[in-house]
Amino acid sequence: MISATARPRRPEFRRRPDPRAGDRLRRYEQVDVQAIQTMVHTFYGCIREHPRLGEIFERRLAGRWDEHLGKMELFWQSVLLKNGAYKGKPVPAHLKQKELLSADYGEWLGVFRPVIRELFVPDLADEIIAVAERIAQSLWLATFGHAGSNPPRELYSQTSDWSGSCW
Ligand code: HEM
Repeated sequence: MISATARPRRPEFRRRPDPRAGDRLRRYEQVDVQAIQTMVHTFYGCIREHPRLGEIFERRLAGRWDEHLGKMELFWQSVLLKNGAYKGKPVPAHLKQKELLSADYGEWLGVFRPVIRELFVPDLADEIIAVAERIAQSLWLATFGHAGSNPPRELYSQTSDWSGSCW
């Protein structure tokens, strides 16, 4: 059971600290379906504000955001809860995006990491970020890799957090 009190804030699912109370948000101590829902909606709320990636997502997902968010909840359930809920194929979904640049995966993680650190207790955040980094490395290899190439350093380290603020 989740013992934290984080709740999705409809309609955007953002968690904004109450300026009158300081940072009094509690962080999730466990992963479950509700934590993943908050994570997915918070992350996409943030990435939509990223100057480059936000535009890519808007172009691709105009009119289909609900479908995408639902799919991403199932994806993260499959990854983190291992419940087999997601049946899709991430590699072709990214290969068809010809506008993707090698650096975009690092930018994606740069938005993902601070969102996860905001929502989850530190040990859990480390685990979720490590999983996302492995997936990003594997997507990068599928998209840009060639014999002997390695994913960029930003997909391993945690030094490239986006400086934008979205909560
Ligand atoms: C380079 C940064 C990324 C960009 C710009 C990006 C963009 C997108 C877009 C636009 C879609 C929707 C495709 C469509 O329905 O037409 C999508 C799908 C998806 N993305 Fe990404 N993505 C990125 C990185 C990642 C990473 C790092 C992960 C996993 C950790 C991920 C997981 C997924 C999954 C699971 C889908 C759904 C695929 C499906 O079953 O249709 N993406 N992505």
